[in-house]
Amino acid sequence: MKEKILTYLTDIQNFNPSNFEQIELFRIKYISKKGLVPLLFEEFKKINNEEKRETGKLLNDLKKIIEDKIISFQVNNEYLNLDSTEIDNSLPGNSYSLGSRHPISLIKNELCEIFIKLGFTIIEGPEIEDDWHVFSALNFPLEHPARDMQDTFFIEKMPDILLRTHTSSVQIRAMEKSKPPLRIIMPGRVFRNEVISARAHCIFHQIEGLYIDKNVSFADLKQTLLYFAKEMFGEEIKIRLRPSFFPFTEPSAELDISCKICKGTGCNVCKYTGWLEVLGCGMVHPNVLQNCNINPDEFTGFAFGMGIERTAMLKYQVKDLRLYFENDIRFLNQFY
Ligand code: DAH
Repeated sequence: MKEKILTYLTDIQNFNPSNFEQIELFRIKYISKKGLVPLLFEEFKKINNEEKRETGKLLNDLKKIIEDKIISFQVNNEYLNLDSTEIDNSLPGNSYSLGSRHPISLIKNELCEIFIKLGFTIIEGPEIEDDWHVFSALNFPLEHPARDMQDTFFIEKMPDILLRTHTSSVQIRAMEKSKPPLRIIMPGRVFRNEVISARAHCIFHQIEGLYIDKNVSFADLKQTLLYFAKEMFGEEIKIRLRPSFFPFTEPSAELDISCKICKGTGCNVCKYTGWLEVLGCGMVHPNVLQNCNINPDEFTGFAFGMGIERTAMLKYQVKDLRLYFENDIRFLNQFY
């Protein structure tokens, strides 16, 4: 029995596998249930007691050596002198899934790029604002409903501090800080006390534009908006300006684009009008210029503001606003 163990030992020492299959065969040969080592243990039971001490130790050592060897080969395959054909270098590696940009960021970036091409620069303002920048400087009368608690989130016990309800407040900050000419776009989050539904949310995004210089006219506004509409929605898009009212612009208008779906003939997307509302705009009210220490006899300007979610809805035809805020990966994955 001792001789057998010694021959196995030399055998084992010379074992030099070149693939995992050989290691497995080696394991089966020696230590599987019917392998050589369990057989030796069977034989061991029958030998006489004098021999048992020495042979028992040898046998246990043999088993340990085999187990260690198998483990070291499996764990550290450096020991394997693998033949190069065993490694398939053409197998694809592990792939990592990259995230995609949020549709609101995509639209915001697209809008910014269009206006950057026209020479506008991007600036941002604070989300927590005061009454002056959000309402008073923008020529909102004291009794205007937008100032109501129903529409505006006020900071508790600080009636003058509120969450901005529109990005028009950034116009005031910019005009207070810099002298004209000014040609800026102002993207950002806005907050309104609205019940969340498919069409309204208490947080959404706007992008505001402002151009102040000498001799800026309504024609400049119209041409800028036409350029924007064609870049954003396609060369075939038609625009129209509808008279409207905002306290901070005079005259004021709303911009509509022709409905792309029905090409202006009427469908349920455009509620059978052939037109879709995109933004509010107008010539900056002289009171607003004055509030920012800009002389309205010397400078004129135009402003416009649009909802980014609304523009995304027009572009992607996704009509439930809530989808833009739920961050469901199955929705977000579709935009890149
Ligand atoms: N601030 C307006 C709103 O939130 C949008 C707007 C209308 C912005 C006309 C403007 C503008 O700059 O000229 O509904």
